[in-house]
Amino acid sequence: MSSKVKVGIIGLGAIGNVHIESLRKVPDAEIAALCDGIPERLKSKGEALGCKNLYADFREMVKQPDLDAVVVAVPNAHHCDATVAALKAGRHVLCEKPMALNARQARTMVDTARSARKLIQMGMTWRQTAEAQLLKNMIDEGYFGRIYHLHLCMRRRRGVPGLGGWFTTKALSGGGCLIDIGVHFIDLVMWLSDNWKPERVSAVTYAEFGKRMRQYTYVGMWAGPPKFDGVCDVDDYASGIVRFKGCTLTFELSWAANIKQESYAEIIGDKAGVRAFDGNPMTIFTESSGRLLDVAPQYAKVAQFDVQAAKFIGAIQGKNPVPATGEQGLTVMQVLDAIYKSAKDGKEVPIAKV
Ligand SMILES: NC(=O)c1ccc[n+]([C@@H]2O[C@H](COP(=O)([O-])OP(=O)(O)OC[C@H]3O[C@@H](n4cnc5c(N)ncnc54)[C@H](O)[C@@H]3O)[C@@H](O)[C@H]2O)c1
Repeated sequence: MSSKVKVGIIGLGAIGNVHIESLRKVPDAEIAALCDGIPERLKSKGEALGCKNLYADFREMVKQPDLDAVVVAVPNAHHCDATVAALKAGRHVLCEKPMALNARQARTMVDTARSARKLIQMGMTWRQTAEAQLLKNMIDEGYFGRIYHLHLCMRRRRGVPGLGGWFTTKALSGGGCLIDIGVHFIDLVMWLSDNWKPERVSAVTYAEFGKRMRQYTYVGMWAGPPKFDGVCDVDDYASGIVRFKGCTLTFELSWAANIKQESYAEIIGDKAGVRAFDGNPMTIFTESSGRLLDVAPQYAKVAQFDVQAAKFIGAIQGKNPVPATGEQGLTVMQVLDAIYKSAKDGKEVPIAKV
């Protein structure tokens, strides 16, 4: 491998550009190829970056002989195909969340990486925040004791992304608020508490706003404006419980609901507990010398996408482990599949080990 890690970007939309800016800050990385289905977007980004290797088709891009790795930042329906094509061509992959449309696709990705002897890193950027890194260290050192419950809340009052576009079209996204935003915090609390053996799930999902798209009242829209002639056939609210051996996880998620907007994750152990990731400095709730004690750790914020990019390049160079593995991504997809199945069947279901 040459001294710089040559990376191709598949998908030059909102998040593809974030990856580009983060990779440009990594001294050992070079953006060596770009791919997008929109010709003008491809051309203008190529000109802006001085990159001449431009592709409309990722299957062509992954054949570029000097490429070491790719970032997959296309809509969810293409994550599996793009990842598998890259791995088979001998490239490492940083794949955006959710890993795929379902666990079956995720399994194909993991198996392909194993036989190609290449790595998959999942785009779980919340793990790279200063709060998450600090909590992970404290949890691993035993500060929280035995963790027996996890709770997460990601409630948007009106936050459907790109109403009528690919985000709200099940065939392209795999689902709504659960697979789009829930995946972040579900992965985060499973990783923090090191719970990778989910057993059963009982959950509900609702899809209310797709029924009345033209009446959707909102202030701002990620990936907007709405396409009223498009499709919205995915969940906009999800709630439930996931059971692990010795631990439970409850969640409440919404893209849109008549409810107060808030977002946080809680970790409850027999020695300490915390509410974090709500945008405020976190407080750890514990006790000491017979008194209840609130602990306010000090930490400097970090740019999580920059850390993720540096760790991806470092993992390829063997300098650090992969910070979010394909195997973990597969387990999270198994949980998401089970949540959708439980909601559909109207009962608790076991986690299917795809
Ligand atoms: N980590 C995060 O916080 C975060 C935030 C937003 C989006 N995402 C994820 O990133 C992915 C992309 O989301 P986005 O918001 O950037 O979407 P987007 O619609 O803004 O961009 C997608 C880009 O992919 C291109 N594209 C689509 N199909 C293609 C194909 N077959 N070949 C080549 N290019 C193709 C489109 O032309 C577009 O430029 C999604 O999986 C999404 O879930 C992650």
